[in-house]
Amino acid sequence: MSEAQNLEKINQLLSLIVNPQNGKTLKEEGRIVEVKADQNELLFKYKRDGISPDQKRKIETMIIQAVADFYPSEKVTVLTISENSSDILADKKFTPAPANPAPTAQIKTGHGPVGAGKKRVLGAQKVIAVSSCKGGVGKSTVAVNLAFALKNLGKKVGLLDADIYGPSMPMLLNQRSAKPGATPEKKILPIDAYGIPFISFGLFINEKDPVIWRGPMLGGVLNQFLFDVAWEGLDYLIIDLPPGTGDMQLSMVQATDIDGAIVVSTPQDVAILDSKKGLNMFSQVKIPVLGMVENMSYFVPEDAPTKKYFIFGEGGVKKAAQELNVNLLSEIPLEMALREASDKGQPYMNEKKYEGRPVWNAYMKLAKNIEQSFNPSENVDAPKGFFKRFFS
Ligand SMILES: Nc1ncnc2c1ncn2[C@@H]1O[C@H](COP(=O)(O)OP(=O)(O)O)[C@@H](O)[C@H]1O
Ligand SMILES: [Mg+2]
Repeated sequence: MSEAQNLEKINQLLSLIVNPQNGKTLKEEGRIVEVKADQNELLFKYKRDGISPDQKRKIETMIIQAVADFYPSEKVTVLTISENSSDILADKKFTPAPANPAPTAQIKTGHGPVGAGKKRVLGAQKVIAVSSCKGGVGKSTVAVNLAFALKNLGKKVGLLDADIYGPSMPMLLNQRSAKPGATPEKKILPIDAYGIPFISFGLFINEKDPVIWRGPMLGGVLNQFLFDVAWEGLDYLIIDLPPGTGDMQLSMVQATDIDGAIVVSTPQDVAILDSKKGLNMFSQVKIPVLGMVENMSYFVPEDAPTKKYFIFGEGGVKKAAQELNVNLLSEIPLEMALREASDKGQPYMNEKKYEGRPVWNAYMKLAKNIEQSFNPSENVDAPKGFFKRFFS
């Protein structure tokens, strides 16, 4: 890119920075006073009247994240001007949170928290990320129903919907108009859905907001959901990641101490190369891959429950998992009731009437295998060789 193109791109990125107070861009509000960018440094000056110190910090983080592809954080200077206060010029070189010199610091990030070391989520024993190479394979369905399957095993589980493209948990949990409150310590309170606390990007945005507006908010979002939400006493926190295995997903997961990742695929969508990219992404940031889940494996007609129709071919994900040397955690069949329950916001695995059906059993197997992967001594029917792929 030429310098002029760079500058244009930077201006474009900066024009998307949002005032967290009202959702309007700083540009729209006429706050931007000066943007100076050369090869080495970026200077951004804006009017901060009416913006609280807390929100000012958020804005600075957003600026740094927006231009992370172009400048490391120490090359970004944010100046603020206040017209109604004696501190006419509050000049400050932005200092990011003390960086832990973890290997993650070297990863080039487009959006994520810059320079942050891996942080553990308070209030959750294990954090599991559910990912997929493509959209529409049932990633959110798996995240939600896995949560209820673990709950059925007596575990306390929370759900975190980090999918900015299609945050579907408010719909899946029948909480579309819920508005999260805050604790006196200013932590976000998750919404309770059938005994599962959850938080979703979808609860904070207008469904009509174009995805591009969401971009600059993104870096902070997962971090905020992990660390500024009052998660409490959870055995598991399950994260629904955005589909794909690009820089964005990578930057979302690299700063957090995630205990395991699951990759969801359907038999016809599984591409070895894509799956490999996904697995590589996790091993790059030292997140153990617990295994793959095949969704929509086969169809069992309600009137002939012993029959299996392999609509999308048989054993696709199993073969891929073998080739990639990861575990196949479960094969979840297609069932109309699962889709219908999801559409109604009544999670299938929370409805005892489905107990014993093939989909139910497949989810319980998935939950048990996850349990087993963290407690290998417990004798549940887990595949052999758990952890074999860790850090390889
Ligand atoms: N095993 C299944 N049987 C029937 N329908 C399913 C199954 N898994 C997912 N679906 C349906 O497929 C659609 C896509 O699933 P979703 O979880 O939203 O995918 P993603 O999160 O990967 O985009 C939804 O309508 C969901 O109800
Ligand atoms: Mg989804």
